[in-house]
Amino acid sequence: MLKKCLFPAAGYGTRFLPATKAMPKEMLPIVNKPLIQYGVEEAIEAGITEVGFVSGRGKRAIEDHFDISYELEHQIAGSDKECLLSDIRDVIDQCTFSYTRQLEMKGLGHAILTGETLVGNEPFGVILADDFCANSDSGVFKQMVELFTEYQCSIVAIEEVPADQTDKYGIVEGKEIQEGLFKVSNMIEKPAPEFAPTNLAIIGRYILTPDIFSIIRTLNPGANGEIQITDAICEQAKNRMVLAYKFKGRRFDCGSLEGYVGATNYVYDEYHR
Ligand code: UTP
Repeated sequence: MLKKCLFPAAGYGTRFLPATKAMPKEMLPIVNKPLIQYGVEEAIEAGITEVGFVSGRGKRAIEDHFDISYELEHQIAGSDKECLLSDIRDVIDQCTFSYTRQLEMKGLGHAILTGETLVGNEPFGVILADDFCANSDSGVFKQMVELFTEYQCSIVAIEEVPADQTDKYGIVEGKEIQEGLFKVSNMIEKPAPEFAPTNLAIIGRYILTPDIFSIIRTLNPGANGEIQITDAICEQAKNRMVLAYKFKGRRFDCGSLEGYVGATNYVYDEYHR
């Protein structure tokens, strides 16, 4: 059973300035719900009960969001607005929330290592809330947990990206063992298109076995001078099975303007129109 999930949320969100100057990127709303809440709901759907945030300076709003707001709740109690808080109340009831801070932004691998204190020595999920995922049936993380139950190994979610965009992603190479499921043989972080072995890009959903922490500790900074989780998982794949899963559903990169607008239109069309 996978119970724990980390939400790295320490990044500066520079692509979204000035909106992210004083507000965490993860609190940007998609219609009327912050990105991070969609991510936590996706985790809960998959059976997660312990949520850990790797946060940083200026991210206090995330803690406040996953807490009770007595004054506000008292104010709207009994009114027709009360139902607007029912989703977040359900989330708070179903999970525990823990926080740790990444003191320096040294990359996603380093953020995940910072979260070791929250997850301990057991397999755990990682959700990057700025990758908004949607599927009409099972959520993307739930699909991955089902595979984890069967294979008990690290799994990364992948999608095909245009060949000229491989330098924005970690790229996976591997053997397809069943439709949409690859046994990873190699991973490269942000390869230029001419050096990319495939166009299978890692997106912000991972399940990792805890041996990943000792691997991260041995890594030197990689692409962009950051400690890259892709490098750690690639190292892990040399000694044990790692899977890459072409998920069912859609992903929007809400760290980019186009992805954010796309997700907003999608959610509005699906749930609010
Ligand atoms: P991004 O590459 O999107 O970085 O990180 P960012 O800082 O959030 O955004 P930009 O590029 O400056 O606009 C991917 C995810 O990894 C987390 C981020 O919070 C985001 O969820 N992250 C990244 C960390 O928690 N710590 C890091 O050191 C780097």
